[in-house]
Amino acid sequence: MSESENSKCVLLLYSSRFGHSKKIADAVANEIGNAGLGVDVEELRPGAAIDIHRYAGAGFVVSVRYGFFATALYKLLETHKDWLDSTPTLLMTVSLTARKPGKRDPAKHSYTRLLLKKTQWTPTRVSVVAGALQYPRYNVFDRVCIRLIMLVTGGEADGKSEIDYTDWDSVRESARAYAKEVFASLRKRKITAP
Ligand SMILES: Cc1cc2nc3c(=O)[nH]c(=O)nc-3n(C[C@H](O)[C@H](O)[C@H](O)COP(=O)(O)O)c2cc1C
Repeated sequence: MSESENSKCVLLLYSSRFGHSKKIADAVANEIGNAGLGVDVEELRPGAAIDIHRYAGAGFVVSVRYGFFATALYKLLETHKDWLDSTPTLLMTVSLTARKPGKRDPAKHSYTRLLLKKTQWTPTRVSVVAGALQYPRYNVFDRVCIRLIMLVTGGEADGKSEIDYTDWDSVRESARAYAKEVFASLRKRKITAP
């Protein structure tokens, strides 16, 4: 890929335990691609060498697991903080808490708030997305824990259901809005470049 092609490409990183966030990342990538940008989709892995600086922007689609995100996310945000603060970025957090519409405001979603506070990162766009309940895929321990969480929060606690709570239209809308922000940043950089 040439230098100019690289500069019109977005990196989309995801962390996903049972594949739902990967599915969301693919939907986001599709919209970004349709908007006319290149997009590389990669899994967030501990210790992976990522040449993030060559991209026009970076997106993160990350699921919550027992209150936290993948360790690799915190590490990457710390390592590339300066670059991330100066580049269009998208943070999409995926959780079951967000199945309740009232929790989809990033300012009211505790896991997202805590992540941003801890990392002192201000993404250009933050989107809180409802994930999926997938009891058949969980091991015994996880199934018991998730049933308990669902019971306490008034959700489906039968230990058998598979329910997709994701608002896919909203996911695609966020992706399109983010692509516009990347284009705006590219235009601005061209205008202000010496
Ligand atoms: C073991 C486990 C722990 C989870 N912990 C939380 C949690 O603390 N809070 C929450 O809102 N959702 C929690 N979830 C829900 C996931 O974030 C949701 O199911 C998401 O769709 C998982 O996406 P993934 O398969 O891409 O990782 C948990 C799910 C699992 C399986």
